[in-house]
Amino acid sequence: MQDTSFAIHPGKKIHVNGTNYQSIGSFVSYNLEEKVLNIKAENGHVSISFYRDDIVRITMNPKKTPSLKTSFAVIKIPEDVDVVGRETNGEIHVSSNKLTVVINKTPIRISIFDNHGRLLVSENEAGMGFNEKKEVICFKEMDKDDHFYGFGEKTSFLDKRGEKMTMWNSDVYAPHNPEIDALYQSIPYFMTIRNGDAHGIFFDNTFKTVFDMKSSNDSYSFSAEGGQLDYYVFAGPTPKAVLEQYSEITGRMPIPPKWALGYHQSRYSYETEQEVRELANNFLEKNIPLDAIYLDIHYMDGYRVFTFDEERFPNPAGLIQDLKDAGIHVVPIVDPGVKEDPEYYVYQEGVKGDRFCKYIEGNIYFGDVWPGKSAFPDLTISNVRKWWGEKHKFYTDLGIEGIWNDMNEPAVFNESKTMDLRVMHDNDGDPKTHREMHNLYGLLMGESTYEGMKAQLNGNRPFLLTRAGFAGVQRYGTVWTGDNRSFWEHLQMALPMCMNLGLSGIPFSGPDVGGFAHDSTGQLLTRWTQVGTFTPYFRNHSVIESIRQEPWSFGQDYENIIRKYIQERYVWLPYLYTLFKEASVSGVPVMRPLVLEFPDDKNTFNLADQFMIGSDVIVAPILKPDTYHRVVYLPEGIWVNYWTEEILEGGKHHLIHADLETLPIFIKKGAIITHGTVKRSTEIKESKITVHLYPTENEISSFTHYEDDGKTFAYNNGQYFQCNFEAKIVDQILEIDINVEHDQFKPEWEKGIFVIHGLNSGTEIKVNGALQGNVKKQSDSTIITVLIDMEHFNKK
Ligand code: GLC
Repeated sequence: MQDTSFAIHPGKKIHVNGTNYQSIGSFVSYNLEEKVLNIKAENGHVSISFYRDDIVRITMNPKKTPSLKTSFAVIKIPEDVDVVGRETNGEIHVSSNKLTVVINKTPIRISIFDNHGRLLVSENEAGMGFNEKKEVICFKEMDKDDHFYGFGEKTSFLDKRGEKMTMWNSDVYAPHNPEIDALYQSIPYFMTIRNGDAHGIFFDNTFKTVFDMKSSNDSYSFSAEGGQLDYYVFAGPTPKAVLEQYSEITGRMPIPPKWALGYHQSRYSYETEQEVRELANNFLEKNIPLDAIYLDIHYMDGYRVFTFDEERFPNPAGLIQDLKDAGIHVVPIVDPGVKEDPEYYVYQEGVKGDRFCKYIEGNIYFGDVWPGKSAFPDLTISNVRKWWGEKHKFYTDLGIEGIWNDMNEPAVFNESKTMDLRVMHDNDGDPKTHREMHNLYGLLMGESTYEGMKAQLNGNRPFLLTRAGFAGVQRYGTVWTGDNRSFWEHLQMALPMCMNLGLSGIPFSGPDVGGFAHDSTGQLLTRWTQVGTFTPYFRNHSVIESIRQEPWSFGQDYENIIRKYIQERYVWLPYLYTLFKEASVSGVPVMRPLVLEFPDDKNTFNLADQFMIGSDVIVAPILKPDTYHRVVYLPEGIWVNYWTEEILEGGKHHLIHADLETLPIFIKKGAIITHGTVKRSTEIKESKITVHLYPTENEISSFTHYEDDGKTFAYNNGQYFQCNFEAKIVDQILEIDINVEHDQFKPEWEKGIFVIHGLNSGTEIKVNGALQGNVKKQSDSTIITVLIDMEHFNKK
């Protein structure tokens, strides 16, 4: 025990992080108002309310009964939960079906149990407190077996035990290293896994917050520079259940347009129309698939957003149409800074309509960004969000369906890296300083852009890429991890960063493939592209004046391997798309740390150099230069090497060889995986579905494949296709059942095959009860293929 936080006693002061905290003291009285339990303590007020029977909210205000307003992160309205209460001399108990909150009275200490009596969270003797600077804090006990995940976009390893992290959206060009505790995104949420069970905490406070899982061995704290202590506890008990609960509160990602899942090429900048056309042609000629090209800041007229430079891009509409015809989307960058220029229409509209961020005295705040002196839309005002969103008509009229939001922390070129904290946001008539609203700026820009685009796309799904965000950003945007560098260390770091983003409710993320700053190399780009094949978001991007890193930049040998892995992305797309659909309903990410699937297995707790796609596929990339082998951990079960069909036993570490051409991939026996074909872009029709079966004795394999038009929101009206495949081996017969569960959308493919891996010779195959004659065994292998009668894809 350290002599810092533990000295807090009721009414006494405690020294933490250089300030004195005052505890809220002991219980005085309580009342129950509309299912909210309000407790008055000696030095503060606490409210407890249930959002669902597995989600409870706790709010503390030192001065008055807490406000139950929420931040923009929260979209859930509390459900009508049955709650029972009980009071004894020393305690108050409030319980739903799934959670019990026990409030110790003297002093006030809150513990939360699940319906099996499992203690989820408890306050240590310091409890909840505040100080004269209006900071609020909460101390919780930390079990020796606690492991912490989530916290959004953080450097360092997967398990955040032993880390102290700050939530303050920051433009960090350099360095991204373990000492940087605040990057572009602030997701004040984490999940604890303890002995295989999980619970979660979301701290809904938009001020700068700090999560300290480091300063003590048996307690942790979360604190904020201002506002209320306001947090939600999620009951779990599995890590996936926690994600479902957290995403119920802050929302889930809508299914992205399919083209957003293809390969994307970017550069700061492709500077002219000519250059963009040549780039696209190169991809076509070299037979490298491509779904999007990005336009970085040079496309604009003097970096004025919502303009094109007429000399560099004389005919944007023609360019965009031609690329679209080739299956390639154009994604322009849009930053929030609006150039101060009285002759520029966006600036004029902003000033005339009183839409820019201002000081309380009424003068506009100006900051320096790419265009020089600039004003910033006050996106806390709903009408300004609407105006900004509508401005995107400029792009949609040209045929653009995707937008890239950058610099939206907001970043400003000054010492503090952001807006003056004294700026007063209007916040729809509830004014708040930038100090309080800073972390929300990216989220609000995301909402405004996404909704604005959606309104103009005639039913098509918009794609939004965003650098900054807050909890809930998944409702609008895909997150890329900002200005990384072409270092092997940054390739390594990208894995836990994206996995923790996934565990923070953001299923659609990825790093700049090849590294943004610094100079990439052929080998690094190759290995990084291999990882990109399986990161949810797959974009190669690099900084001005760095060595070129388009797929062909390092010679034919590298190009061939890079092509192969970009093509492989398209092969895996139907499977990935099904996982995106799953994420959109459950909050469970596409790219998963092993601990999400195997929370009981201690080998997974901090396993950060390999990951899973869904529940059955392990990807174990090479993350070091000149390295052609690595140790791979395979958890319980039997695993199959995707490339060689070699069978590997789980529960063990394996030494795996991987030449530069090989990305090690392992499939769990029992898995069913749907594949598509190599194609130039997702806009090309999918001709064939391949269903890979890895059947196993004594176990039923099952997989539900999902498809829709990949473009519109018609899936919300039931226009989708869902088909379950089930396989089991009974008495030397492999019985495969195809069960079309939903057929309001007709998939494009005209042909389907089963590829059956590792079946004993002599095993017969039945599909929907009929013995299959048309069975082909590939010579020298254990692979059997069966043509699927397309009739089976009609609903029975
Ligand atoms: C920022 C972005 C980077 C972009 C550059 C120029 O550094 O993070 O991706 O290329 O600005 O717009």
